[in-house]
Amino acid sequence: MRFLDIDHVSKDFAGVSVFSDVAFSIAEGEFVTMIGHSGCGKSTLLNIIAGLEQPSAGGVVLSGREITGPGMDRMVVFQNFSLMPWMTVFDNIRLAVRAAHPDWSRRRVAEWVQRYVDMVGLTGAEAKRPAALSGGMRQRVGLARAFSTEPKVLLLDEPFAQIDALTRGVIQDELVRMWSASRNTVFMVTHDVDEAILLSDRIALMTKGPNARLAEIIPVKVPRPRTRAELIDDPEYLRLRNHILHFLVEAAQRPGAAEVEIAASTGRLPSMDT
Ligand SMILES: Nc1ncnc2c1ncn2[C@@H]1O[C@H](COP(=O)(O)OP(=O)(O)OP(=O)(O)O)[C@@H](O)[C@H]1O
Ligand SMILES: [Mg+2]
Repeated sequence: MRFLDIDHVSKDFAGVSVFSDVAFSIAEGEFVTMIGHSGCGKSTLLNIIAGLEQPSAGGVVLSGREITGPGMDRMVVFQNFSLMPWMTVFDNIRLAVRAAHPDWSRRRVAEWVQRYVDMVGLTGAEAKRPAALSGGMRQRVGLARAFSTEPKVLLLDEPFAQIDALTRGVIQDELVRMWSASRNTVFMVTHDVDEAILLSDRIALMTKGPNARLAEIIPVKVPRPRTRAELIDDPEYLRLRNHILHFLVEAAQRPGAAEVEIAASTGRLPSMDT
């Protein structure tokens, strides 16, 4: 039985196809990333897996059960750090842990929360509210909250998009560590090719929308553990990176459109990442 099966999913909005016939599956413990141009439907697919959107055709099956709505077996981290603004760092994470484990004692919950606070380097910031945190710190809370509930599937939608490049690198390393310790099943959407290679077991490439398709799924054969520093000298990394960048430019319908659009959507140079 497949663990997470995206079974020929299509999505239309008002009769216009966003993507169609997307079919792949994710094994338990696997980290799969999706890359594609803005508007190809990555967030829509992630939201369908989360149960927040319904597919127009096809379906998503998790551990043999079709997804019909949101559930505690899937946790989402969005790029806009959806924390409860009136709650402290500690309470934001505690809320999720208590929901996932209603039978746990207060003490057990508190110890568990502290473990994840420490894991993302927020020790000492437990009593702060989101407004008093930097973007990077907020996103750490979001990641700690998601991992702390040990969901069957973690869904990450460009979790680092609003974070400056230096902080992003640090949090990516933390994510690698958390994932290595937990071996959660992860589906992540990103625009950052380097990030995708650093983190993923496989990378799914979408063609440009509307009516986007899944073009290919590339296995990342760079050995783990991976660090950003070592990656840049790895020939397999360079080969993959070229392949993906080439795909993204080729998949554009108008010459030059890809670079312009990507630069606009990320605010970064197209030669650095997508
Ligand atoms: N609720 C909605 N109603 C109508 N159209 C929608 C809705 N949600 C998304 N769309 C459209 O579906 C398409 C795909 O959107 P989606 O947000 O999934 O793209 P994306 O690949 O995540 O893009 P980005 O990289 O910019 O985040 C877009 O054209 C968008 O306008
Ligand atoms: Mg999106």
